[in-house]
Amino acid sequence: MSDERLSPGDEELVRVASLQRERAYAPYSRYKVGAAIRTKRNKIHSGANVENTSYGLTVCAERAAVFTAVNAGDRELDAIAIVIAGDELPSPCGACRQVLYEFGPAMRVILATTTGKRRATTLAELLPDAFGPASLPPAS
Ligand code: THU
Repeated sequence: MSDERLSPGDEELVRVASLQRERAYAPYSRYKVGAAIRTKRNKIHSGANVENTSYGLTVCAERAAVFTAVNAGDRELDAIAIVIAGDELPSPCGACRQVLYEFGPAMRVILATTTGKRRATTLAELLPDAFGPASLPPAS
């Protein structure tokens, strides 16, 4: 599937996310997800989901990637690629959409499969009317 909103650097981001996906630790769901984030400084940070015997402690790929970027000193995020295997495109969970919004309210989101499907969207479309830093009153 092609998408006119895809841009040239997106395929590189998808490639990094696909490689990172191989590092996913998902013995319980067997649903491996890879994510790669491009920052405004044009750096790429990636993450994969990490599950736990205590299921609720699982961390999604998208949040793993955001936390890696922020820990590297990159807080301004431009785009994220999210990759899963098979033919169905991924859809980031609500918690990850909220966490992505904190550091990339205008970010582009590239959804991809290992079979070559692609869809480009934006966080604004995935999380309309978001609650974010600008929603809080200034600290007194
Ligand atoms: N998962 C992600 O990594 N990203 C998402 O957007 C959805 C869910 C992971 C969490 C868990 O390891 C597995 O996929 C099944 O929910």
